[in-house]
Amino acid sequence: MNRAENQIIVIFGGRGDLAMRKIVPALYELFIQGLMPERFAVVATGRSKVDDEVYRNEVSSALTGKAGKEGGKGDDDFMRAFFYTTLDPLVPGDYRELAGLLNRLRSEMKIQGNTLFYLSVPPEIYDEISPGLAGQGLNSEADGWKRLIIEKPFGYDYASAVHLNRLLLEHWEESQLFRIDHYLGKETVQNILVTRFSNGIFEPLWNRNYVHHVEITSSESLGVEKRGSYYEGTGALRDMVQNHLLHLVGFIAMEPPSSIDSTSIRNELVKVFESLRPVKPEDVRKMTIRGQYTGAHVKGEWLGGYREEEGVSKTSMTETFAALKFYIDNWRWGGVPFYIRTGKRLPTRVTEAVIHFKPTPHYLFSGESACEGCNQLIIRIQPDEGILIKFGMKIPGGGFNVRNVNMDFHYSDLAVDRIPDAYERLIHDCMNGDSTLYTRSDAVLAAWKFLDPVLQAWKDDPSIPVYGYPAGTWGPETADGLIEEPELTWRYPCKNLADDGVYCEL
Ligand code: BG6
Repeated sequence: MNRAENQIIVIFGGRGDLAMRKIVPALYELFIQGLMPERFAVVATGRSKVDDEVYRNEVSSALTGKAGKEGGKGDDDFMRAFFYTTLDPLVPGDYRELAGLLNRLRSEMKIQGNTLFYLSVPPEIYDEISPGLAGQGLNSEADGWKRLIIEKPFGYDYASAVHLNRLLLEHWEESQLFRIDHYLGKETVQNILVTRFSNGIFEPLWNRNYVHHVEITSSESLGVEKRGSYYEGTGALRDMVQNHLLHLVGFIAMEPPSSIDSTSIRNELVKVFESLRPVKPEDVRKMTIRGQYTGAHVKGEWLGGYREEEGVSKTSMTETFAALKFYIDNWRWGGVPFYIRTGKRLPTRVTEAVIHFKPTPHYLFSGESACEGCNQLIIRIQPDEGILIKFGMKIPGGGFNVRNVNMDFHYSDLAVDRIPDAYERLIHDCMNGDSTLYTRSDAVLAAWKFLDPVLQAWKDDPSIPVYGYPAGTWGPETADGLIEEPELTWRYPCKNLADDGVYCEL
Protein backbone atom coordinates (compact mmCIF):
# COMPACT_ATOMS: atom_id res chain seq x y z
CA MET A 1 0.00 0.00 0.00
CA ASN A 2 1.25 3.47 -0.78
CA ARG A 3 1.03 6.87 0.85
CA ALA A 4 -2.04 8.76 -0.36
CA GLU A 5 -1.81 12.12 -2.17
CA ASN A 6 -2.01 15.33 -0.17
CA GLN A 7 -5.64 16.08 0.63
CA ILE A 8 -8.20 17.36 3.09
CA ILE A 9 -10.72 15.01 4.66
CA VAL A 10 -14.02 16.52 5.74
CA ILE A 11 -16.14 14.46 8.14
CA PHE A 12 -19.81 15.38 8.38
CA GLY A 13 -20.97 14.09 11.75
CA GLY A 14 -17.43 14.50 13.06
CA ARG A 15 -18.42 14.09 16.72
CA GLY A 16 -20.74 11.16 16.06
CA ASP A 17 -20.35 7.58 17.18
CA LEU A 18 -19.12 6.25 13.83
CA ALA A 19 -16.57 9.01 13.45
CA MET A 20 -15.13 8.43 16.91
CA ARG A 21 -15.32 4.62 16.90
CA LYS A 22 -14.27 3.88 13.34
CA ILE A 23 -13.24 6.78 11.10
CA VAL A 24 -10.81 8.63 13.40
CA PRO A 25 -9.13 5.40 14.63
CA ALA A 26 -8.80 4.25 11.01
CA LEU A 27 -7.10 7.54 10.07
CA TYR A 28 -4.78 7.13 13.03
CA GLU A 29 -3.80 3.59 12.02
CA LEU A 30 -3.10 4.78 8.49
CA PHE A 31 -1.05 7.59 9.98
CA ILE A 32 1.17 5.34 12.10
CA GLN A 33 1.67 3.02 9.15
CA GLY A 34 2.87 5.96 7.05
CA LEU A 35 -0.08 5.68 4.66
CA MET A 36 -1.62 9.08 5.29
CA PRO A 37 -0.57 11.83 2.88
CA GLU A 38 2.54 13.80 3.62
CA ARG A 39 0.33 16.88 4.07
CA PHE A 40 -3.27 16.48 5.16
CA ALA A 41 -5.94 18.06 7.33
CA VAL A 42 -9.11 16.61 8.79
CA VAL A 43 -12.02 19.01 9.11
CA ALA A 44 -14.84 17.73 11.29
CA THR A 45 -18.25 19.32 11.11
CA GLY A 46 -21.28 19.09 13.33
CA ARG A 47 -24.12 21.21 14.67
CA SER A 48 -22.57 21.75 18.09
CA LYS A 49 -20.35 24.71 18.78
CA VAL A 50 -16.97 23.53 19.96
CA ASP A 51 -13.51 24.73 19.00
CA ASP A 52 -10.51 22.91 17.53
CA GLU A 53 -8.97 22.29 20.95
CA VAL A 54 -12.08 20.64 22.39
CA TYR A 55 -12.40 18.52 19.29
CA ARG A 56 -8.74 17.49 19.36
CA ASN A 57 -9.21 16.36 22.97
CA GLU A 58 -12.17 14.24 21.89
CA VAL A 59 -10.06 12.72 19.14
CA SER A 60 -7.33 11.99 21.65
CA SER A 61 -9.81 10.25 23.99
CA ALA A 62 -11.20 8.22 21.07
CA LEU A 63 -7.70 6.90 20.48
CA THR A 64 -6.86 6.14 24.09
CA GLY A 65 -5.62 2.61 24.47
CA LYS A 66 -5.14 2.09 20.75
CA ALA A 67 -2.29 -0.26 20.00
CA GLY A 68 0.63 1.70 18.62
CA LYS A 69 -0.47 4.99 20.14
CA GLU A 70 2.80 6.56 21.07
CA GLY A 71 1.70 9.68 22.89
CA GLY A 72 4.79 11.40 21.47
CA LYS A 73 5.50 13.93 18.76
CA GLY A 74 3.89 11.74 16.09
CA ASP A 75 0.62 11.90 18.00
CA ASP A 76 0.87 15.67 18.37
CA ASP A 77 1.34 16.04 14.61
CA PHE A 78 -1.70 13.84 14.06
CA MET A 79 -3.88 15.81 16.50
CA ARG A 80 -2.79 19.14 15.02
CA ALA A 81 -4.15 18.06 11.65
CA PHE A 82 -7.71 18.14 13.09
CA PHE A 83 -10.01 21.17 12.82
CA TYR A 84 -13.63 21.64 13.72
CA THR A 85 -16.24 23.87 12.17
CA THR A 86 -19.87 24.22 13.17
CA LEU A 87 -22.14 23.39 10.27
CA ASP A 88 -25.89 23.03 10.23
CA PRO A 89 -26.65 21.16 6.99
CA LEU A 90 -29.76 23.33 6.48
CA VAL A 91 -27.91 26.64 6.64
CA PRO A 92 -26.30 27.71 3.31
CA GLY A 93 -24.04 30.21 5.08
CA ASP A 94 -22.37 27.36 6.99
CA TYR A 95 -21.15 25.81 3.73
CA ARG A 96 -19.62 29.17 2.87
CA GLU A 97 -17.72 29.07 6.18
CA LEU A 98 -16.58 25.53 5.39
CA ALA A 99 -15.39 26.55 1.93
CA GLY A 100 -13.50 29.48 3.49
CA LEU A 101 -11.80 27.19 6.00
CA LEU A 102 -10.84 24.72 3.29
CA ASN A 103 -9.34 27.51 1.18
CA ARG A 104 -7.35 28.81 4.11
CA LEU A 105 -6.00 25.37 5.01
CA ARG A 106 -5.16 24.60 1.39
CA SER A 107 -3.11 27.73 1.02
CA GLU A 108 -1.44 27.48 4.48
CA MET A 109 -0.58 23.82 4.05
CA LYS A 110 0.07 23.97 0.32
CA ILE A 111 -2.51 21.30 -0.41
CA GLN A 112 -4.26 21.23 -3.78
CA GLY A 113 -8.03 21.01 -4.00
CA ASN A 114 -8.13 17.23 -3.41
CA THR A 115 -10.94 16.70 -0.91
CA LEU A 116 -12.66 13.65 0.52
CA PHE A 117 -16.07 14.33 2.08
CA TYR A 118 -17.23 11.61 4.45
CA LEU A 119 -20.99 11.70 5.12
CA SER A 120 -21.27 10.07 8.51
CA VAL A 121 -24.74 11.48 9.19
CA PRO A 122 -28.32 10.15 9.03
CA PRO A 123 -29.25 9.58 5.37
CA GLU A 124 -32.11 12.10 5.38
CA ILE A 125 -29.44 14.83 5.60
CA TYR A 126 -27.70 13.74 2.36
CA ASP A 127 -30.43 15.67 0.50
CA GLU A 128 -29.14 18.86 2.12
CA ILE A 129 -25.40 18.28 2.11
CA SER A 130 -25.00 17.40 -1.55
CA PRO A 131 -26.48 20.66 -2.94
CA GLY A 132 -24.94 22.60 -0.03
CA LEU A 133 -21.43 21.55 -1.09
CA ALA A 134 -22.22 22.05 -4.76
CA GLY A 135 -23.50 25.57 -3.98
CA GLN A 136 -19.95 26.49 -2.95
CA GLY A 137 -18.37 24.72 -5.93
CA LEU A 138 -17.00 22.07 -3.57
CA ASN A 139 -17.94 19.32 -6.05
CA SER A 140 -15.82 20.85 -8.82
CA GLU A 141 -12.65 19.00 -9.75
CA ALA A 142 -11.04 21.99 -11.45
CA ASP A 143 -8.48 22.37 -8.63
CA GLY A 144 -8.19 18.68 -7.60
CA TRP A 145 -10.42 15.63 -7.13
CA LYS A 146 -13.51 15.65 -4.91
CA ARG A 147 -14.94 12.39 -3.53
CA LEU A 148 -17.95 11.65 -1.40
CA ILE A 149 -18.11 8.64 0.92
CA ILE A 150 -21.74 7.81 1.63
CA GLU A 151 -22.59 5.65 4.61
CA LYS A 152 -25.31 3.06 4.50
CA PRO A 153 -28.26 2.74 4.44
CA PHE A 154 -28.32 3.97 0.85
CA GLY A 155 -32.07 4.48 0.61
CA TYR A 156 -34.88 2.80 2.42
CA ASP A 157 -36.22 0.75 -0.46
CA TYR A 158 -35.83 0.67 -4.25
CA ALA A 159 -37.76 3.90 -4.92
CA SER A 160 -35.90 5.92 -2.28
CA ALA A 161 -32.53 4.59 -3.49
CA VAL A 162 -33.40 5.67 -7.06
CA HIS A 163 -34.37 9.08 -5.70
CA LEU A 164 -31.15 9.43 -3.68
CA ASN A 165 -29.04 8.40 -6.66
CA ARG A 166 -30.75 10.92 -8.87
CA LEU A 167 -30.25 13.63 -6.30
CA LEU A 168 -26.55 12.92 -5.90
CA LEU A 169 -25.98 12.63 -9.64
CA GLU A 170 -27.36 16.16 -10.09
CA HIS A 171 -24.13 17.47 -8.56
CA TRP A 172 -21.62 14.62 -8.71
CA GLU A 173 -20.34 12.12 -11.24
CA GLU A 174 -20.75 8.43 -10.42
CA SER A 175 -16.92 8.22 -10.29
CA GLN A 176 -16.95 10.68 -7.36
CA LEU A 177 -19.40 8.61 -5.29
CA PHE A 178 -18.09 6.00 -2.88
CA ARG A 179 -20.99 4.08 -1.29
CA ILE A 180 -19.49 2.30 1.64
CA ASP A 181 -20.37 -1.17 2.92
CA HIS A 182 -17.76 -1.89 5.57
CA TYR A 183 -18.06 -5.66 5.00
CA LEU A 184 -16.21 -5.21 1.73
CA GLY A 185 -13.32 -3.72 3.68
CA LYS A 186 -12.96 -6.85 5.79
CA GLU A 187 -9.84 -8.84 4.91
CA THR A 188 -11.71 -12.11 5.11
CA VAL A 189 -14.43 -10.95 2.72
CA GLN A 190 -11.78 -9.98 0.17
CA ASN A 191 -10.14 -13.31 0.86
CA ILE A 192 -13.21 -15.06 -0.56
CA LEU A 193 -12.05 -13.87 -3.97
CA VAL A 194 -8.49 -15.03 -3.32
CA THR A 195 -9.61 -18.43 -2.05
CA ARG A 196 -11.82 -18.94 -5.04
CA PHE A 197 -9.70 -17.47 -7.80
CA SER A 198 -6.12 -18.16 -6.74
CA ASN A 199 -6.69 -21.90 -6.27
CA GLY A 200 -7.56 -24.35 -8.98
CA ILE A 201 -9.04 -26.88 -6.57
CA PHE A 202 -12.23 -25.13 -5.51
CA GLU A 203 -13.50 -23.63 -8.73
CA PRO A 204 -14.39 -26.90 -10.54
CA LEU A 205 -16.63 -27.82 -7.57
CA TRP A 206 -18.13 -24.36 -7.16
CA ASN A 207 -21.42 -24.88 -8.96
CA ARG A 208 -24.77 -26.63 -9.03
CA ASN A 209 -23.19 -29.99 -9.92
CA TYR A 210 -21.37 -30.28 -6.60
CA VAL A 211 -22.89 -27.74 -4.23
CA HIS A 212 -26.00 -28.83 -2.38
CA HIS A 213 -26.77 -25.51 -0.71
CA VAL A 214 -25.05 -22.39 0.61
CA GLU A 215 -25.64 -21.01 4.07
CA ILE A 216 -24.57 -17.59 5.34
CA THR A 217 -24.92 -16.48 8.94
CA SER A 218 -24.12 -13.16 10.52
CA SER A 219 -25.05 -13.33 14.17
CA GLU A 220 -24.46 -10.79 16.88
CA SER A 221 -24.72 -11.31 20.61
CA LEU A 222 -25.34 -7.62 21.29
CA GLY A 223 -28.77 -6.06 21.08
CA VAL A 224 -29.46 -2.70 19.44
CA GLU A 225 -27.56 -0.89 22.22
CA LYS A 226 -28.09 2.87 21.99
CA ARG A 227 -29.33 2.76 18.39
CA GLY A 228 -32.96 1.86 19.11
CA SER A 229 -34.47 4.86 17.36
CA TYR A 230 -32.39 4.28 14.20
CA TYR A 231 -33.07 0.56 14.26
CA GLU A 232 -36.84 0.97 14.73
CA GLY A 233 -37.17 2.39 11.22
CA THR A 234 -34.65 0.00 9.74
CA GLY A 235 -34.77 -3.60 10.98
CA ALA A 236 -32.45 -6.48 10.20
CA LEU A 237 -33.36 -6.78 6.53
CA ARG A 238 -32.33 -3.23 5.71
CA ASP A 239 -29.54 -3.00 8.27
CA MET A 240 -27.67 -6.20 7.43
CA VAL A 241 -29.20 -8.18 4.56
CA GLN A 242 -29.57 -5.52 1.86
CA ASN A 243 -25.87 -4.69 2.07
CA HIS A 244 -23.53 -6.91 4.11
CA LEU A 245 -25.14 -10.31 3.57
CA LEU A 246 -25.95 -9.78 -0.09
CA HIS A 247 -22.35 -8.73 -0.68
CA LEU A 248 -21.20 -11.98 0.87
CA VAL A 249 -23.60 -13.80 -1.45
CA GLY A 250 -22.17 -11.81 -4.35
CA PHE A 251 -18.56 -12.73 -3.56
CA ILE A 252 -19.44 -16.40 -3.06
CA ALA A 253 -21.56 -16.63 -6.19
CA MET A 254 -19.86 -14.35 -8.74
CA GLU A 255 -18.19 -15.56 -11.92
CA PRO A 256 -14.42 -15.11 -12.14
CA PRO A 257 -13.87 -11.47 -13.15
CA SER A 258 -11.67 -10.84 -16.18
CA SER A 259 -9.27 -8.88 -13.97
CA ILE A 260 -9.05 -7.60 -10.42
CA ASP A 261 -9.99 -4.03 -11.33
CA SER A 262 -12.96 -2.12 -10.03
CA THR A 263 -15.11 -2.35 -13.16
CA SER A 264 -14.62 -6.09 -13.69
CA ILE A 265 -15.38 -7.00 -10.08
CA ARG A 266 -18.34 -4.69 -9.81
CA ASN A 267 -19.71 -5.97 -13.13
CA GLU A 268 -19.66 -9.54 -11.83
CA LEU A 269 -21.23 -8.53 -8.53
CA VAL A 270 -24.12 -6.80 -10.18
CA LYS A 271 -24.74 -9.81 -12.42
CA VAL A 272 -25.28 -11.92 -9.30
CA PHE A 273 -27.66 -9.38 -7.79
CA GLU A 274 -29.60 -9.14 -11.03
CA SER A 275 -29.91 -12.93 -11.12
CA LEU A 276 -31.46 -13.20 -7.65
CA ARG A 277 -34.88 -14.74 -8.17
CA PRO A 278 -37.47 -12.31 -6.75
CA VAL A 279 -39.52 -13.79 -3.91
CA LYS A 280 -43.16 -13.85 -5.08
CA PRO A 281 -45.57 -12.13 -2.68
CA GLU A 282 -47.37 -15.42 -2.10
CA ASP A 283 -44.05 -17.12 -1.21
CA VAL A 284 -42.83 -14.55 1.33
CA ARG A 285 -44.33 -16.49 4.22
CA LYS A 286 -42.60 -19.67 3.07
CA MET A 287 -39.22 -18.23 2.06
CA THR A 288 -38.61 -15.71 4.84
CA ILE A 289 -38.75 -15.66 8.63
CA ARG A 290 -38.63 -12.59 10.82
CA GLY A 291 -38.18 -12.45 14.55
CA GLN A 292 -37.68 -10.09 17.46
CA TYR A 293 -35.75 -10.80 20.64
CA THR A 294 -37.52 -11.03 23.95
CA GLY A 295 -36.04 -10.74 27.44
CA ALA A 296 -34.20 -13.71 28.89
CA HIS A 297 -31.50 -14.71 31.35
CA VAL A 298 -28.23 -15.21 29.46
CA LYS A 299 -25.18 -16.51 31.32
CA GLY A 300 -26.75 -15.41 34.59
CA GLU A 301 -27.58 -11.91 33.40
CA TRP A 302 -31.04 -10.62 32.54
CA LEU A 303 -31.14 -9.14 29.03
CA GLY A 304 -34.21 -7.08 28.22
CA GLY A 305 -36.30 -7.60 25.11
CA TYR A 306 -36.16 -5.39 22.01
CA ARG A 307 -39.37 -3.60 22.93
CA GLU A 308 -37.78 -2.49 26.20
CA GLU A 309 -34.82 -0.86 24.45
CA GLU A 310 -34.45 2.93 24.50
CA GLY A 311 -36.12 4.55 21.48
CA VAL A 312 -38.19 1.46 20.63
CA SER A 313 -41.98 1.30 20.59
CA LYS A 314 -43.65 -1.05 23.09
CA THR A 315 -45.65 -2.49 20.18
CA SER A 316 -42.79 -2.54 17.68
CA MET A 317 -42.99 -5.02 14.82
CA THR A 318 -39.41 -4.29 13.68
CA GLU A 319 -37.45 -7.47 13.04
CA THR A 320 -34.16 -8.05 14.83
CA PHE A 321 -33.77 -11.42 13.10
CA ALA A 322 -34.24 -12.22 9.43
CA ALA A 323 -33.74 -15.46 7.56
CA LEU A 324 -34.30 -15.98 3.85
CA LYS A 325 -34.20 -18.79 1.35
CA PHE A 326 -33.69 -17.84 -2.29
CA TYR A 327 -32.23 -18.93 -5.61
CA ILE A 328 -29.83 -17.41 -8.10
CA ASP A 329 -31.15 -17.96 -11.59
CA ASN A 330 -28.05 -18.52 -13.67
CA TRP A 331 -26.15 -21.47 -15.15
CA ARG A 332 -23.78 -21.85 -12.21
CA TRP A 333 -26.35 -21.81 -9.41
CA GLY A 334 -29.66 -22.87 -11.00
CA GLY A 335 -31.61 -24.87 -8.37
CA VAL A 336 -29.11 -24.42 -5.51
CA PRO A 337 -30.84 -22.93 -2.45
CA PHE A 338 -29.11 -20.11 -0.60
CA TYR A 339 -30.04 -19.67 3.06
CA ILE A 340 -29.04 -16.50 4.84
CA ARG A 341 -29.78 -15.32 8.36
CA THR A 342 -28.82 -12.52 10.65
CA GLY A 343 -29.92 -11.46 14.08
CA LYS A 344 -29.17 -9.52 17.20
CA ARG A 345 -28.99 -11.09 20.66
CA LEU A 346 -28.08 -14.49 19.28
CA PRO A 347 -25.71 -16.72 21.28
CA THR A 348 -22.46 -15.46 19.78
CA ARG A 349 -20.94 -13.03 17.29
CA VAL A 350 -20.04 -14.95 14.18
CA THR A 351 -20.14 -14.26 10.46
CA GLU A 352 -19.48 -17.15 8.12
CA ALA A 353 -20.44 -18.74 4.83
CA VAL A 354 -20.84 -22.49 4.56
CA ILE A 355 -20.66 -24.28 1.25
CA HIS A 356 -22.43 -27.61 1.71
CA PHE A 357 -21.22 -30.00 -0.96
CA LYS A 358 -23.44 -32.80 -2.19
CA PRO A 359 -23.02 -36.15 -0.47
CA THR A 360 -21.48 -39.08 -2.32
CA PRO A 361 -24.00 -40.73 -4.65
CA HIS A 362 -23.67 -44.08 -2.89
CA TYR A 363 -22.53 -44.26 0.70
CA LEU A 364 -20.40 -47.30 1.60
CA PHE A 365 -19.59 -46.84 5.25
CA SER A 366 -21.57 -47.41 8.44
CA GLY A 367 -24.77 -45.60 7.52
CA GLU A 368 -25.33 -42.06 6.35
CA SER A 369 -25.36 -40.48 9.79
CA ALA A 370 -21.76 -41.50 10.38
CA CYS A 371 -20.57 -38.52 8.46
CA GLU A 372 -23.04 -35.89 9.46
CA GLY A 373 -21.63 -32.44 8.79
CA CYS A 374 -19.00 -33.72 6.32
CA ASN A 375 -18.46 -32.15 2.90
CA GLN A 376 -18.54 -28.61 4.19
CA LEU A 377 -16.27 -25.70 3.44
CA ILE A 378 -16.64 -22.94 5.98
CA ILE A 379 -15.36 -19.47 5.26
CA ARG A 380 -15.15 -17.64 8.55
CA ILE A 381 -15.37 -13.88 8.24
CA GLN A 382 -15.18 -13.18 11.98
CA PRO A 383 -14.05 -13.93 14.67
CA ASP A 384 -11.22 -16.50 14.50
CA GLU A 385 -11.02 -15.64 10.82
CA GLY A 386 -10.11 -18.58 8.63
CA ILE A 387 -11.25 -21.52 6.57
CA LEU A 388 -12.38 -24.94 7.69
CA ILE A 389 -13.03 -28.03 5.64
CA LYS A 390 -15.05 -30.80 7.27
CA PHE A 391 -14.72 -34.25 5.81
CA GLY A 392 -14.92 -37.93 6.72
CA MET A 393 -11.95 -40.00 7.97
CA LYS A 394 -11.66 -43.59 9.05
CA ILE A 395 -11.66 -44.09 12.81
CA PRO A 396 -8.58 -46.24 13.56
CA GLY A 397 -9.40 -49.86 14.39
CA GLY A 398 -11.58 -52.57 12.98
CA GLY A 399 -14.27 -52.03 10.38
CA PHE A 400 -14.82 -48.87 8.41
CA ASN A 401 -16.19 -46.38 10.85
CA VAL A 402 -16.15 -42.82 9.67
CA ARG A 403 -15.79 -39.63 11.63
CA ASN A 404 -16.16 -36.03 10.62
CA VAL A 405 -12.78 -34.29 10.99
CA ASN A 406 -11.54 -30.76 10.46
CA MET A 407 -8.84 -29.24 8.33
CA ASP A 408 -8.58 -25.67 9.44
CA PHE A 409 -6.58 -22.61 8.58
CA HIS A 410 -6.63 -19.62 10.90
CA TYR A 411 -5.90 -16.25 9.38
CA SER A 412 -3.75 -15.37 12.39
CA ASP A 413 -1.28 -18.06 11.20
CA LEU A 414 -0.27 -15.76 8.36
CA ALA A 415 1.99 -14.08 10.90
CA VAL A 416 0.38 -10.69 10.48
CA ASP A 417 0.45 -8.82 13.80
CA ARG A 418 -3.05 -7.54 13.31
CA ILE A 419 -5.87 -7.73 10.81
CA PRO A 420 -6.59 -4.16 9.73
CA ASP A 421 -10.04 -2.79 10.45
CA ALA A 422 -12.32 -2.59 7.41
CA TYR A 423 -12.50 1.21 7.59
CA GLU A 424 -8.72 1.57 7.24
CA ARG A 425 -8.70 -0.27 3.96
CA LEU A 426 -11.78 1.48 2.60
CA ILE A 427 -10.79 5.01 3.55
CA HIS A 428 -7.32 4.45 2.16
CA ASP A 429 -8.79 3.10 -1.08
CA CYS A 430 -11.00 6.16 -1.42
CA MET A 431 -8.04 8.46 -0.76
CA ASN A 432 -6.38 6.72 -3.68
CA GLY A 433 -9.45 6.77 -5.88
CA ASP A 434 -9.92 2.99 -5.90
CA SER A 435 -13.63 2.15 -5.89
CA THR A 436 -13.30 -1.64 -6.24
CA LEU A 437 -14.59 -2.27 -2.71
CA TYR A 438 -17.31 0.36 -2.86
CA THR A 439 -20.82 -0.28 -4.12
CA ARG A 440 -21.85 0.91 -7.55
CA SER A 441 -25.34 2.36 -7.98
CA ASP A 442 -26.61 -0.50 -10.16
CA ALA A 443 -25.68 -3.01 -7.44
CA VAL A 444 -27.45 -1.02 -4.72
CA LEU A 445 -30.56 -0.78 -6.85
CA ALA A 446 -30.52 -4.48 -7.80
CA ALA A 447 -30.21 -5.42 -4.11
CA TRP A 448 -33.20 -3.25 -3.20
CA LYS A 449 -35.20 -4.59 -6.14
CA PHE A 450 -34.69 -8.12 -4.82
CA LEU A 451 -35.72 -7.22 -1.26
CA ASP A 452 -38.60 -4.87 -2.05
CA PRO A 453 -41.29 -7.61 -2.30
CA VAL A 454 -40.22 -8.97 1.10
CA LEU A 455 -40.22 -5.51 2.69
CA GLN A 456 -43.60 -4.82 1.15
CA ALA A 457 -45.16 -8.07 2.36
CA TRP A 458 -43.69 -7.70 5.85
CA LYS A 459 -45.14 -4.20 6.03
CA ASP A 460 -48.55 -4.87 4.52
CA ASP A 461 -49.40 -8.31 5.78
CA PRO A 462 -49.68 -8.40 9.57
CA SER A 463 -50.55 -12.09 9.37
CA ILE A 464 -46.88 -12.81 8.56
CA PRO A 465 -45.68 -13.37 12.12
CA VAL A 466 -42.84 -11.56 13.83
CA TYR A 467 -41.75 -14.50 15.98
CA GLY A 468 -40.41 -13.72 19.43
CA TYR A 469 -37.17 -15.46 20.34
CA PRO A 470 -35.51 -15.34 23.74
CA ALA A 471 -32.23 -13.41 23.87
CA GLY A 472 -29.28 -15.79 23.69
CA THR A 473 -30.95 -18.29 21.35
CA TRP A 474 -30.48 -18.87 17.62
CA GLY A 475 -33.64 -16.99 16.63
CA PRO A 476 -37.14 -18.33 16.06
CA GLU A 477 -37.29 -22.10 15.91
CA THR A 478 -39.44 -21.77 12.79
CA ALA A 479 -36.31 -20.60 10.95
CA ASP A 480 -35.22 -24.27 10.99
CA GLY A 481 -38.21 -25.03 8.79
CA LEU A 482 -36.79 -22.87 5.98
CA ILE A 483 -34.36 -25.68 5.26
CA GLU A 484 -36.84 -28.11 3.85
CA GLU A 485 -34.91 -31.35 4.07
CA PRO A 486 -35.61 -32.79 7.53
CA GLU A 487 -32.11 -34.18 8.08
CA LEU A 488 -30.49 -30.77 7.47
CA THR A 489 -30.28 -27.83 9.84
CA TRP A 490 -28.43 -24.55 10.04
CA ARG A 491 -24.90 -24.82 11.34
CA TYR A 492 -24.68 -23.53 14.88
CA PRO A 493 -21.25 -21.93 14.85
CA CYS A 494 -18.92 -21.54 17.79
CA LYS A 495 -16.67 -18.60 18.50
CA ASN A 496 -13.65 -20.73 17.66
CA LEU A 497 -13.79 -21.91 14.10
CA ALA A 498 -12.74 -25.50 14.64
CA ASP A 499 -14.75 -26.19 17.80
CA ASP A 500 -17.74 -28.40 17.61
CA GLY A 501 -20.70 -29.48 19.66
CA VAL A 502 -19.97 -29.87 23.34
CA TYR A 503 -16.64 -28.07 23.08
CA CYS A 504 -18.33 -25.02 21.64
CA GLU A 505 -17.21 -21.73 23.14
CA LEU A 506 -19.84 -19.07 22.52
C1 BG6 B 1 -23.64 -2.27 10.78
C2 BG6 B 1 -25.04 -2.39 11.31
O1 BG6 B 1 -23.67 -1.91 9.43
O2 BG6 B 1 -22.98 -3.51 10.93
C3 BG6 B 1 -25.01 -2.82 12.77
O3 BG6 B 1 -25.70 -1.15 11.19
C4 BG6 B 1 -24.21 -4.08 12.94
O4 BG6 B 1 -26.33 -3.01 13.27
C5 BG6 B 1 -22.85 -3.94 12.27
O5 BG6 B 1 -24.05 -4.31 14.31
C6 BG6 B 1 -22.11 -5.25 12.27
O6 BG6 B 1 -20.81 -5.03 11.81
P1 BG6 B 1 -19.63 -5.98 12.24
O7 BG6 B 1 -18.44 -5.48 11.51
O8 BG6 B 1 -19.51 -5.88 13.73
O9 BG6 B 1 -20.04 -7.37 11.82
